[in-house]
Amino acid sequence: MLILLSFLLRVMWNNITLCSICKFSPSSPSLLFSRSRILHHVFERKYKDLCKQTAQILQNRSCQVAKRTCNMLPSRLVSNKAKYRRYTKTYPVLDGRIPTVYQHVFEENLRNNKAVIQRYSELLEMVSKGGGENAILRHTQRNKKLFVRERLKMLLDDESFLELSPLAGLNLPYGDVPAAGCLTGIGKICGVWCVFMANDATVKGGTIYPIGVKKQLRAQEIAMQNRLLSVYLVDSGGAFLPLQSELFPDKSDGGRVFYNEAIMSAMKIPQVAVVCGSCVAGGAYVPTMAEETVIIDKIGTLFLAGPPLVKAATGEDVSPEDLGGAKLHSKVSGCSDHFASSEKEAYECVRNIISTLNYEPLPEEVIEYDGPLYSSDELLGLAPRGYNYTLPVKLILSRLMDGSRFQEFKADYGTTLVTGFGHVEGHLVGVVASNGELSHDASLKGGHFVQLCSQRSIPILFFQNTAPHAAEPTSISQAEAHTNRLKAQASMMAAVACAAVPKITVVIGGCYGSESYVMCGRSFSPNFLFLWPNARVALVDSRHFFTIPKAEDNDCKEDESELNHLKEKLEEESSAFYSSARLWDDGVILPQNTRKVVAQCLEIINQQKYQVISPCQYPVIRM
Ligand code: COA
Repeated sequence: MLILLSFLLRVMWNNITLCSICKFSPSSPSLLFSRSRILHHVFERKYKDLCKQTAQILQNRSCQVAKRTCNMLPSRLVSNKAKYRRYTKTYPVLDGRIPTVYQHVFEENLRNNKAVIQRYSELLEMVSKGGGENAILRHTQRNKKLFVRERLKMLLDDESFLELSPLAGLNLPYGDVPAAGCLTGIGKICGVWCVFMANDATVKGGTIYPIGVKKQLRAQEIAMQNRLLSVYLVDSGGAFLPLQSELFPDKSDGGRVFYNEAIMSAMKIPQVAVVCGSCVAGGAYVPTMAEETVIIDKIGTLFLAGPPLVKAATGEDVSPEDLGGAKLHSKVSGCSDHFASSEKEAYECVRNIISTLNYEPLPEEVIEYDGPLYSSDELLGLAPRGYNYTLPVKLILSRLMDGSRFQEFKADYGTTLVTGFGHVEGHLVGVVASNGELSHDASLKGGHFVQLCSQRSIPILFFQNTAPHAAEPTSISQAEAHTNRLKAQASMMAAVACAAVPKITVVIGGCYGSESYVMCGRSFSPNFLFLWPNARVALVDSRHFFTIPKAEDNDCKEDESELNHLKEKLEEESSAFYSSARLWDDGVILPQNTRKVVAQCLEIINQQKYQVISPCQYPVIRM
C-alpha cells in the first residue's frame, strides 16, 4: 500500500511539474497526455480525486506564473494602472491658487472670454446649418439625400468626433462658405480612428472653393502625418467656377488632392470613398482615385461633364443615371467597386470594407488618472484678453495636468519658459509653455528640453503665448543681448523643427511674430494646432504697435485716419475667428475642453504604434 501511495505521489508530483511546464511551454503537451493516459489506466479512481487537488494547485501555480509573465511584458501590453499611478503620484503638485493681487486681471479675462465664447457659439450654430434651412430642405426632400451631419452619424461609431476647423470659410473676401463646404474631422469606424472628408452639398452644390481645397489638403496632411485611414463622402459639383483661377493651376490647388490620394495609397494609408451625390469634373476624381469606392443607387452620379454640358455639346438629352449612375459605374465602367441601394447600405458597406483592412484597433486600455485639483472653468479667468493680462502659466498647467502634478525641468533657469513632464488623461507629455518673453536662457532651456523629449520619444505639448513685440535696443550692450537671444531662439527653432516626436500646439494667448515659430507655430508642422477663443494671431499687436500723433494740421489728420484704419484692420485680422476662417489652425477649442481634445489627439496619434508599417510601395491602381 505504502509503495503504491509513494508511487502515486511521485507520479502526481511529476504531473504537476509537467502540467506547469506544459501550460507555458507548447512543446510538451503530448508527453503530458501519454503520462495522463498511463495514470488513467492504472489508478483511475484515485486519480480522479487527486486530480481535483492537482487542478487547484495548478490554478494557484499558473496564477503566479501568469503574474510573473505579465511583469516581464512591456507595460503597454498589460494593465498599467498600478505602475502609472505609482510613478505619477510622486510628481510635485502645482500650487494653482490664484493670488488675490491677480483678482482684477482674472475678472477682466473672464469678462472677455464670456463675450468671445458667446460669439464662438453663435458662429458654430450658424455653421451647423450648412447652406441654410432652404438648401437643406432642397437637399433632403427634392434630392432625397441625407444632410452631411446625418451621414456622419451613420458612418461613425460614436456621434462625438473631433471636427477640424468648423469655422473655416467664414467671412472671406468671396463671402461666407460655411465649414468651407466640406466637413473634415477624425472619428472612429469599427474602432479605428479615421479621417473623414465629407462635402456639404447644401453649400453651392458642394462645389469646391479655394478654402475647401485647403481644408481637404490639411485633412490629408493629418492623415499622412498620423497614418490615419481616410474616408471621403463625395457630393460635389466640382470646382466653384467663378473662382477657377484660384483653384486650378498652382501646386497646392485642386489637383493636389488627387496627387495626395496616390501618395497616401503608396504609403499604405487606405482610402475609401462613397459617391453619395453628384461627383462632377474634379469631384469625380476623388472616388475614382480611392482604393475602394461605393456608389449609391439613384443619388450617386459620377461624370466629368454633366447632362447640361452634353446637351450643349451634342444636342443629346441624357439622364444623369444613364450618363454616370450607380448601375453604369458598377457594371460597365468599373469606376465604383460596390453598389449600394441606400445610404444606410453604403455606410454599412464602408464599415465592412474597413474591417477587411487588416488594421489593429487600439487596445481598449482603461487607464486610471486623476483629474486636476483645480476647476477647468477657472481657465476662463486665466486665458488672457491681451498680453498684459497674462498670469503665471503654471496656474494654467495646474488646471490641465492630471492631479495638477508636474515634474518641472530647470525650474529656476530661463523662467520665462516653463518646461517639464506631466500627464494628460494618462498620456505622458513634455510641456513647453510660454511664461513671458522668450529670453536667451529660456530659449536654450527650451531647445534642451525639446531634445530630451525627442530622445525619449515623448510627445510635446506647446502652450503658446508669445510677446507682441520685441523691445527696441537702446544701447550697444542691449543690441548684443538681442543678438545672443536671436542665436538661442534659432537653436530652439532647429530643435523643435527636427524633434521626431508628435507635437501639439495650443495658442492660449498671443501668437505673435517670430517667437510663435519657436513655439511650434503652423509653419513648424505640429500634428495639431488649436486656438483658444481669446487667442490673437498677428505679426504685431495692434494695441501696442502704434502711437498715433496728435492731429494739429491736415497732413497729421490724414496720417491719423490712415493709422486708425490700419489699427482697425489689424485688430480684426488678429482674432482667433479670423485665423480659423483661413485655416491657419485646426480649430478653436474652449479652454475648459482642452484636456479632452489634447487627450483625444494623443490617442489618435498613438494608433500608428499598433500598425504594421511596411515600406512605401506603389499605390493601388484602379483597373
Ligand atoms: N460653380 C459655381 N456654382 C455652382 C456650380 C459651379 N460649378 N454648380 C452649382 N453651382 C451653384 C448653383 O448655381 C446653385 O446656386 P444658387 O443656390 O445660388 O442658385 C447652387 O450651386 C446649387 O445648384 P443646383 O443646380 O440648384 O443644385 P442641384 O443639387 O440641383 O445640383 C449640381 C447640383 C452640382 C449637380 C449641379 O448644379 C451641377 O451639375 N452643376 C454644374 C457642375 C459642373 O459643371 N462643374 C464643372 C466644374 S469644372
